[in-house]
Amino acid sequence: MKESEKPSEDLGVEGMLGDLRKQIAECLPEIESLEKKEIAFKLLIYEAVFATNFVPWMTNTWVRCQSDKAREVCVDNLLCEIKEDHPAMLRNFVSVAEQHAGDVKIEEVTESIRRIISRLTDLSRSPDAMNGLLIMAALENTSLEFIPWMEKAAMKLGATDLEYTKKHGMADIEHANEFVVAVKSEAEHLGVLSDQLTQSNSLKLVSDLLQEIFSAK
Ligand SMILES: [Fe+2]
Repeated sequence: MKESEKPSEDLGVEGMLGDLRKQIAECLPEIESLEKKEIAFKLLIYEAVFATNFVPWMTNTWVRCQSDKAREVCVDNLLCEIKEDHPAMLRNFVSVAEQHAGDVKIEEVTESIRRIISRLTDLSRSPDAMNGLLIMAALENTSLEFIPWMEKAAMKLGATDLEYTKKHGMADIEHANEFVVAVKSEAEHLGVLSDQLTQSNSLKLVSDLLQEIFSAK
């Protein structure tokens, strides 16, 4: 039996991620109700956060994995990020936003986001990989909601380079599922129980971060 097909006497991981995904879906504002400047701002903040932090978070997590499956999932994802240069793909995708952003300076409004980023970075450097894997599972699973939203939003700005959104989100559902398997595999390897997983701050911080980026203010 393949690891991913084991019956889940489940650590509650799917339930936790399902709740988080729902939360994010509900926080995404109606695109029709947003001005182009507001959309541009959200896309530029997303880029500022993820083009620089995703690979370090994943790398911090990967080097701490002890189970073969979790390590393999992280490496597959990292190779994909680096070989296809997803940060560059993201920069190209949001480049359309620059002309709509006006004179708003991203640095002025991202103090709380910077605090969340630094806490997520600390979590990805925890002694074991559990917190980092939960961050990755949370991002990959919620991306099924926010990437299609970003694509629609960017199209309202006239974006034509959609390679980033075509490679992520719903197109990347395998990565989302693989990280659930990775979390379970690492937890089993370390003897981490369900209630210990729910004590991790990872999911709450990912939720806070995504809501800071996307919520209507
Ligand atoms: Fe990516």
